[in-house]
Order: sequence, then C-alpha cells, then structure tokens
Amino acid sequence: MRQTLRTGAARVMLGLAGSAALATGAIAQEANLVIDGEIEIVTRAPAPDHMENVSEIVSGWEYRSPETQAVQMDDFENPGMIGVDNARADFSAAMGPDGQSCAACHDNPESLEGARAVYPKWDETKGEVQTLEMQVNECVTERAGAEAWNYTGTRMTEMIALISSVSRGLPVNVAIDGPAQPTWEQGKEIYYTRYGQLELACANCHEDNYDNMIRADHLSQGQINGFPTYRLKNGKLNAVHNRFKGCVRDTRAQTFAPGSPEFVALELYVASRGNGLSVEGPSVRN
Ligand code: HEC
Ligand code: HEC
Repeated sequence: MRQTLRTGAARVMLGLAGSAALATGAIAQEANLVIDGEIEIVTRAPAPDHMENVSEIVSGWEYRSPETQAVQMDDFENPGMIGVDNARADFSAAMGPDGQSCAACHDNPESLEGARAVYPKWDETKGEVQTLEMQVNECVTERAGAEAWNYTGTRMTEMIALISSVSRGLPVNVAIDGPAQPTWEQGKEIYYTRYGQLELACANCHEDNYDNMIRADHLSQGQINGFPTYRLKNGKLNAVHNRFKGCVRDTRAQTFAPGSPEFVALELYVASRGNGLSVEGPSVRN
C-alpha cells in the first residue's frame, strides 16, 4: 500500500479515506487508449531518469471511470473537439492591422505537428522558457500586430487544444538541460514545496498518494500530457495553469497567477515528469 499523507490535519480536512479504503489501489483495466480506433496513446511508460521516487508514469486517463474514458476514445463524443473545431476556423481569421492570420504564415494547423510535445521550451531570442501560450501570443502580438489573447481565455485554450490535437500520439519530450535547466530546477522546487494552511506540496498528493482516493476523487499523478482537458465538472476546456491554480487553492494557499514565471517553471517541470507519455489533449476528465 502506498504512503498516506503525512499531515494529519490535512487528512481530516480533506476527508481522505481511512487506511482500509486506501487499499483500493489496483487499476482494473489494461486497456490502451486508442482514439477513433486510430490514434494510439501511450498511457503508461517508464519514468524518466530524473524522477527519483516514481518508476512508472501514468496518464490521468487511467484513473478516470470507464464512462469518462470512453468519451475520450471517440472524437465525436469528446466535447473538447468542439473547441478544436472553433480554433480551426479561427486559424484562418484575420487579425491585426494587416489582416494577418495563423494560416497566412503557418498554412494549416497540421504544420504545427510536434510543437505540443516539446513545449515549454527555451526561446533563444527571448532568453527564456516559453509555454505554447506565450509562443502563440508572441505570434499574435509581434507578428500579427494584434492584441494579446487572455492567457487562459477560451480563444487561447481552444487554439492550444487544436495545436495539441495534431500532436496526439507523439511522445512528450521537453528538454530540461542546457539553458532551460535553471527554470526546470525552479519548477521542481515549487513542486516539492508545501503550501497553504494544509502544508501540502504537489508531491504529497500526486507523487506520494496517486492511485488513492481523496474524497470521491481517484488521485492521479497530476500529469499534463492531456491538456487542455475538457472537464465534465465545469463543462469546458481547462488550461494547465488554471488546473495548477485550482490545486494550489485546494491547499488553502495564495496561488500564483496563470502565465506567471512560477507557473511557467512548474509547467516545464511537470511536463518533464510526463516525458514518454503521449500527447493526449484535448483529453476528458471529471
Ligand atoms: C506573420 C507570420 C505569423 C503569424 C501571423 C503567426 N505566426 Fe506563428 N510563427 C511565425 C514564425 C516566424 C514562427 C517562428 C518559427 C521558429 O522560429 O520556429 C512562429 C512560431 C509559431 C509556433 C511555434 C512552432 C514551434 O514548432 O516551435 C506556434 C505554435 C505558432 N507559431 C502558432 C501560431 C498561431 C496559433 C498563430 C495564429 C494565432 C500564429 N502562429 C500566427 C509566424 C507567424
Ligand atoms: C490535496 C491534494 C492535491 C494537491 C496538493 C495538488 N493536487 Fe493536483 N489534483 C488533485 C486532485 C484530487 C485532482 C483530480 C484527480 C486527479 O486527476 O488526480 C488533481 C488534478 C491535477 C491535475 C490534472 C491531471 C489530469 O490528468 O487532468 C494536474 C495537472 C494537477 N493536479 C497538478 C497539480 C500540481 C502541479 C500541484 C502543485 C501545485 C497539485 N496538483 C497539487 C489533488 C491535489
């Protein structure tokens, strides 16, 4: 059996199941995620070398109910694909003073295949690690001369879903060495820092307790290979940083802002914990 949360108070406040119920562990099915009978998704892989405490990495899809899993196996059922279709139309929409569009420079969304798998990524010109959202906004503002899109707004999140969708099945492979390393280290530190009144770090839930129940929820490893995720709970596509925000808030801590350097660093680190899983977004979660 896995460890339980070390913080006694947190167990009580979060209503973590008692130790008997914690034994629910075993994941029933060995089912592979295949979308539309076509796109094969790796949902379990050996952990990357940099992970000291985990030997296998597992997609959040594995922890959802069979009903929720099924929704993601069929693009017609997956409500996240509506956002992808919206973004496909937006891809050719005119922006800025010269009527630029994504399509004018990038032809079609498929030409961006592979991008999702390697972001966040070091940007030589800017001298910083950039998320896909930052990269898109660089195109929107500096290349098309239009106003920046809201970092976690619908338009941005749908565009990220489109860019992810054309990389589905490719292995996540973010670089953590070279110039990106200090940012990665910062993200790692955040991941292991206990925040809030409950004094909980990401690791306390997603590393020490994945596969256990927390209230009615089956805890996953908190992987981000499936983002943006369509959540049945709020009925929309959710951006990575909004999920981080929600999780930090659940520890009753002040949260960092979406797009902040802290969340960018955390995203790079969490993405690297999924190196080897497939890009899966837009995924379906509860
Ligand atoms: C005026 C031309 C132009 C427009 C308009 C434009 N882009 Fe770009 N985009 C570029 C250039 C140039 C690059 C950088 C290529 C490089 O250095 O890798 C780029 C890079 C990117 C990348 C990173 C690709 C990678 O493999 O790292 C993404 C993603 C992207 N653009 C998305 C978009 C989206 C989405 C839109 C519309 C909202 C858009 N771009 C509009 C020119 C443009
Ligand atoms: C108190 C426990 C707890 C803490 C601490 C916590 N989370 Fe979560 N997190 C959850 C629960 C519960 C869910 C929903 C079930 C699941 O997917 O694990 C979740 C979901 C997620 C997901 C979505 C996974 C998916 O497949 O869609 C991500 C990503 C995530 N958390 C990241 C983080 C990060 C990063 C931190 C630290 C800033 C963090 N979480 C801290 C409990 C926690």
